[in-house]
Amino acid sequence: MRAAVLRSPGTPPRLEDVELAEPRDGEILVRIEAAGVCHSDYHYMTGDLTAPLPLVLGHEGAGIVEELGPRASGRIKVGDRVALLWRPRCGVCDACVAGNPVLCELGKVQAATGGLPDGTSRLSLPDGGELHHLMGVSCFAERVVVNENAAVVVPDGVPPEIAAISACAVITGVGAVWNVASKTQGLPLLLIGAGGVGLSAVMGAALTGAHPVIVVDIDDEKLELAREFGAAITINGRETDAAAAVLEATGGRGVPWAIEAIGRPATLRQALDCTAAGGTVIAVGLGAADTDFPVPLNQLVQRQKHVVGSLYGSSNPQLDLPRIFALYLAGRLPLDRLLGERMPLAEVAAAYGRLLAGAPGRGILIP
Ligand code: APR
Ligand code: ZN
Ligand code: ZN
Repeated sequence: MRAAVLRSPGTPPRLEDVELAEPRDGEILVRIEAAGVCHSDYHYMTGDLTAPLPLVLGHEGAGIVEELGPRASGRIKVGDRVALLWRPRCGVCDACVAGNPVLCELGKVQAATGGLPDGTSRLSLPDGGELHHLMGVSCFAERVVVNENAAVVVPDGVPPEIAAISACAVITGVGAVWNVASKTQGLPLLLIGAGGVGLSAVMGAALTGAHPVIVVDIDDEKLELAREFGAAITINGRETDAAAAVLEATGGRGVPWAIEAIGRPATLRQALDCTAAGGTVIAVGLGAADTDFPVPLNQLVQRQKHVVGSLYGSSNPQLDLPRIFALYLAGRLPLDRLLGERMPLAEVAAAYGRLLAGAPGRGILIP
């Protein structure tokens, strides 16, 4: 099959012919219908984040189940439409038992081996050379083999593009609000970075009744979208001192919850400066592996602030994704407005060029 292969950091991904082996125990083979152009893949292209190479890119995808491996549970059937998860769930490790499957031990296995949850790859190069999965998914490809616990059945009426972005950007943003922030009703909430993840957080915040939702970005088109999704106050951080504007909008107190969805020390600091005494910064954006975020001790202690990280919306995707799909179908999460240009898979390098140039909406690759 054809797939977008990353050979080494700094070189653009290229469409190549690769081999995909049959699904093994508890695995499924899925024909990809849509894959989202998520910023996280780009960190691997630059080398800011590292994974075993060469690999097939893509971790935000959806498609149709074509084949079941041996000993499949029966929960997923041939012909089902599924959204793919980049965190599997073993169900028995401490994190899974504690209800926090994002931190499942299998995530470490996938990251260390570049394989599926059993630590081996179903991908190879035509000459028999090694080829790795990215985050157990690798959906910039015509087909994938994944563990069935890394798939959630998509209800009728949810298009593949929506299913794909829901399984990464949307659940990451919405989940940070639903699963980490609490008692947001009638209280201000700040979101910095209105990309696919950040705008999803805005929609999630609007549903919880947070008010005013304040959004900072440097791109007016993104701010316009944020207003459409329920932001009451938007601030262009390039033109305005964002921290001063947020303090002014909150009577000098700051916000109890500030979400940073970019992954940069400067905007994390902005979020901290905007946080009220006793408030919490929720760090969602991924940075380079060696990124540090210095926290002034007095803000932490004297103002009793909290800084917490949230990966994948701190969610339980098997529970949270169906909730997201149901709200979408009810017209209460306008996820269609997040979608950007659809491009053929062969244009993967150009699609990332457009992401970096600030193209509106989530780019979608169609194999
Ligand atoms: N101040 C405010 N906004 C900024 C700044 C800044 N200094 N720099 C960039 N932005 C905005 C961009 O204009 C864009 O709207 O941050 C947003 C980033 O969005 P995307 O590139 O679409 O990234 P997204 O896919 O949403 O992911 C955000 O989360 O999962 C991680 O790896 C991912 O680090 C990435 C982050
Ligand atoms: Zn992603
Ligand atoms: Zn586990």
